[in-house]
Amino acid sequence: MDSDARHKLLVASNRGPVTFRVADGGEFVARRGGGGLVTALGGLARVHDVTWLSHVMGEGDEAMSDSVGGGSFEEHARGGGGYQLRLVGRADATYERHYLEIANPLLWFLQHRLYGFGWDPTIDRATHGAWGCYRGVNQRLADALADELALADPNDPPFVMVHDYHLFLVPGMLHERLRERPEQRQPFVQFFLHIPWPDPGAWRALPRAWARDVCESLLACDVIGFQTHRDAENFLRTVHHFLGASVEFRTGAVRYMGALTRVRTYPISVAVDEFEEHAASATVERLRTRIAEMRPKTDDGDGKLIVRVDRTDPSKNIVRGFRAYSLLLEEHPELHGKVSMFCQLDPSRQDIAAYIDYLAQVKAAATAVNHRFATSTWTPLHVNLDSNFQAGVAAYREYDVLFVNPVADGMNLVSKEGPLVNERDGVVVLSDQAGSYNELGPHVVSVNPFDVSQQAEALLEALRMPAPERHERAEAMRRQVVEHDVRDWMQAQLDDIHALQSGAPLVVR
Ligand code: G6P
Repeated sequence: MDSDARHKLLVASNRGPVTFRVADGGEFVARRGGGGLVTALGGLARVHDVTWLSHVMGEGDEAMSDSVGGGSFEEHARGGGGYQLRLVGRADATYERHYLEIANPLLWFLQHRLYGFGWDPTIDRATHGAWGCYRGVNQRLADALADELALADPNDPPFVMVHDYHLFLVPGMLHERLRERPEQRQPFVQFFLHIPWPDPGAWRALPRAWARDVCESLLACDVIGFQTHRDAENFLRTVHHFLGASVEFRTGAVRYMGALTRVRTYPISVAVDEFEEHAASATVERLRTRIAEMRPKTDDGDGKLIVRVDRTDPSKNIVRGFRAYSLLLEEHPELHGKVSMFCQLDPSRQDIAAYIDYLAQVKAAATAVNHRFATSTWTPLHVNLDSNFQAGVAAYREYDVLFVNPVADGMNLVSKEGPLVNERDGVVVLSDQAGSYNELGPHVVSVNPFDVSQQAEALLEALRMPAPERHERAEAMRRQVVEHDVRDWMQAQLDDIHALQSGAPLVVR
């Protein structure tokens, strides 16, 4: 097997690259999905033969799936390249409970350590019922994968790549299905986790049987990929704790029930060419001009624009970010009229109480900033609350300071996309809890996401940074992103598969 060749990939994720709606004329209109996973995987279709299985998200998807008899159909990725898409399942109560009660918030909150354990989570009868639904949705995806594999060339099956916390149980369920046909060549199965994997203590909040099920399922894979070494190490500790699996921290090898699984680290990145092309599009250019107008006009022409681009997720730490900005303005009146902040915020997961509350808190905190500091000629904070991907990209081009302060984040693609297309030698203020901090740390102004006063100081440092230093750091960040494109992320995984299949040693990462 040549690791540089075009490969057949069978990808499964909860959210697909597009969702569909039925227009008035009856035709299907596709809309691009949001979030880091879809952004990163979108670039793969140009390079590999991808069949992508994702869950039906709503009635439009359901109608689309029905119109092709539940099978796969051809779609086009942003930036070119066709792929096969298959929408699995129904937009039913089982799916809702899987997504709204288990995946988000329970697993998401646990893995981003958003719970205060004195209060949450509470696991009750309803949660136990919802876990059954989580299992059900995972089974649907595992069955669909097994069906696709049954159609594939038995001598050359595609690599199976399962993504993220919605589908933890898929590898184990797929393994069971494949045992039904032991005579066929077994596919190589990999799981990639886009979000943090916390230490075993966090997982102990779950009923022990669930934590064990998750661990056992993942160990049915040949390889499990994480964003950072810390996540990989936490995983090794967790499977040792819950299953007594034998783990080797140095090599990432896990032995359990006679099987060997490799735990590896692959930091995800941006599809550089596609992203740059997109950033140069006419729509983004038009939005960029509008956003540039939010930069205060000063006599010396040195007005500054701070930007943040996020989903309204508690992990993103938007409220503390506004408090830090407010403190900055309070302590530095000389900045009034000279700096403004623009936030492009995607109102995320608005069917979940914690997210509805968080969005209300974000709005209140934003209003408080303007109420306190705005004048007739200066708006300190502009907030755009909609899922406008292009406006976010336009804002990347214009920032003087990009503020990224999550309390926990698997990678955080905003902190990579921004420096790639920014045109002003902007400074990145980055939380040391973002996965991207491992790569960008030396070039950013670091913040502790919990320390509001330190964040205010960091913003000031970024605003005052001399031009040559800004330039040097911006160039270094751009280089880092260009040299570690999403294709390298995929290539590293294919190189590992290649090495494992040919018995060659794995490259140390
Ligand atoms: C993160 C997760 C993705 C998820 C995205 C958006 O990036 O890793 O799996 O798709 O957030 O969240 P949503 O709940 O809207 O799919």
